Parts: sequence; C-alpha cells; structure tokens
Amino acid sequence: MTAWADILPMHIPAVQVLDRLLRCGWPGSAAPDGLLGEARLFLPQLIGTDRKSTALRAFIVAEMAADREGVLARLSFLRSACRDVALYGDLILGDTEAFMAQSETFSLFNYDLARDLSEAAMEATRPWVAYVSNLTRTEAPFLVPLIALPNDAQVLEPGGNSGVFARALIEAWHPKRHVVIDLPAVSALGRQRGTAQGLSFVADDMRKGEWRSLAGFAPDVILFKSVLHDWPGAEAELLLAEAIRALAPAGQIVIAERTAFRGMTGGTAMDYANLVFAAFYRDPMVYQTMLKRLSPDLTVTVALTVIDTEWFVLTARRTA
Ligand SMILES: C[S@@+](CC[C@H](N)C(=O)[O-])C[C@H]1O[C@@H](n2cnc3c(N)ncnc32)[C@H](O)[C@@H]1O
Repeated sequence: MTAWADILPMHIPAVQVLDRLLRCGWPGSAAPDGLLGEARLFLPQLIGTDRKSTALRAFIVAEMAADREGVLARLSFLRSACRDVALYGDLILGDTEAFMAQSETFSLFNYDLARDLSEAAMEATRPWVAYVSNLTRTEAPFLVPLIALPNDAQVLEPGGNSGVFARALIEAWHPKRHVVIDLPAVSALGRQRGTAQGLSFVADDMRKGEWRSLAGFAPDVILFKSVLHDWPGAEAELLLAEAIRALAPAGQIVIAERTAFRGMTGGTAMDYANLVFAAFYRDPMVYQTMLKRLSPDLTVTVALTVIDTEWFVLTARRTA
C-alpha cells in the first residue's frame, strides 16, 4: 500500500520542489518545464514512467483530491521545520525555550488564538488545524486497529481537534456517541467538516475539568491522541487525573503518541517535523507510571507501531 512515507523526501531541495509542484496542481495538471526539470533532479522517483512512479503519482492525486488544504499545510510545515532546524537546531534539546521563541513552527501553534470565533481567530487557527488533520488522516489507519471499543461505546476525546480521528474510529467501531472537547475555533472548523453518526463537539477548555458534565455521560473510553505531549508532566498528569475521575466504572483510557525521539529514524522530511517537537515526546512508561500513581488498580497494555516514526497506543483498563 502506498503511503506518504514512500513519497516524502528527506532532503530540503526535494521538499521545496514537491511543495511547488503540488501548489501548481501537478500531477493532476501539467507543471512548467523548468520545475519538471528540477523534479527530475530532486524527485526522480516521482517522475518516471515505470509502475512505481505511476502509483506514487496516483496516490498524490487521490490525497490532493481528498485533502488539498491539509497536504499543502503539511508541505508548508515541513519547509518551516527544515528552516528552524537549519537556523536554530542546536537549541532544540539544549535550550528548548529559546528554540521555541525563535522558531516558525511553534509560532504556528498558538492555542491562545483559538479561544473565540472572530475572523482573526479562525484565520490563525485554520493552517495548523489543516496540518494536524492531514497528519491524523495518515496516522489513523495505523492506530485505529490498535484500539478496541466496547459495543455502544460512549467516547470522550479531549483535544480531538477537527474530528479526523473520531471519524475514523466511528467508521470502524460505530460507537453510540463520540464527543470531542476542543477550543472554540478548532471545534468550529471540526463542525465545518460535516457530520458523522454520534459525533459532536464541545467548544471549551479541557483544563476546566468536569468532563462528565461537559460530555453529558460517564465515558466508556477517554482518548488522548497526540495531546498529552503538549503539556508539561504535572499538567499531563492533571488531565489523566480528570480522565480517571470522569471514566465509567469499567472504562478505558487510551493514549496514542509518538514515543520519545530517537533520532532521524523515519527517513523522510517528517523527521524534521518530529525533531522540532523532540523535547516533548515521551515513552509509554512515563504515562503508565502517572496512571498507576493515580489509580493503582488500572491494567495497562502497550502496543507499538511505526508510521513516520515509532508510535504507541497505551490502553489503561479499570475493572468494574
Ligand atoms: C497536537 S494537537 C492534536 C490534535 C488531535 N488530537 C490530533 O491528533 O490530530 C492538540 C489539540 O489539543 C487542543 N487543545 C490545546 N489546548 C486545549 C485546551 N485547553 N482545551 C481543549 N483543547 C485544547 C488543540 O486545539 C489541538 O486540537
């Protein structure tokens, strides 16, 4: 099966040429000869007439048809990540605060600008929501098979963004309800993507707690997909504590995240995207320790998979 991992190049000129090609509608439409000449140099695997090249181009055409805004947001982010690494990469692990202050990538993710529905808030929020939604579109086929929902599940997903992961879970498991809590501008963008059976958005700050009343039920499943790494340890633990408080008696908490950064292991430009967040990713054992500290009766299992890098799905089950 073709995936973005087969297409995304590792080196910077190829990222730049791919971005420019996609912006001018290639491979669905013709690209200028000069640009195609650059593509022959930097992206020969996409330009050939062999079966492999033809399949890769067909994949790009399908992805652009399904999520043009997201694919282009991903290429923009990769350009920014390559730039940040080139200019300030020495700081990433040694002085993360200084790196964040100077980087283009971190200025994109401004959650404070997603707190209302003003035109400015929507405009600031749209590009990074498009980016993470596009990533999640790629990640869901790997992660959903590692999650098992009970029949008629009531699912709560704090930080569920535009609902891309929710929609993939709904298609696989047909839960009774799936409620996403996310910030107002993010939830509005999620609603704009249309409906799915049982899906709804609560536009609120998840740190306020009271998840049972926000959801309107005691969740059978509370899912954190690429959410907890955003928070320092103590705050991530507070979110887990609220999850344990809100969970139904026989419920489960599911955490899906990249494991701790282990170098440029993926072999595509996504390594740069992951490197800029390298200080934040944690191994599953860190969350397992937090959960066990909060509730020693939980039974924890961990499954690993490889997408752009290594990922885990941790499931913590409470016995009724
Ligand atoms: C790294 S993104 C991951 C999004 C999504 N789960 C995914 O994997 O595509 C983190 C999410 O947490 C949301 N978020 C951040 N702070 C929040 C808060 N205080 N309350 C609710 N959601 C928040 C962001 O808006 C964003 O959608």
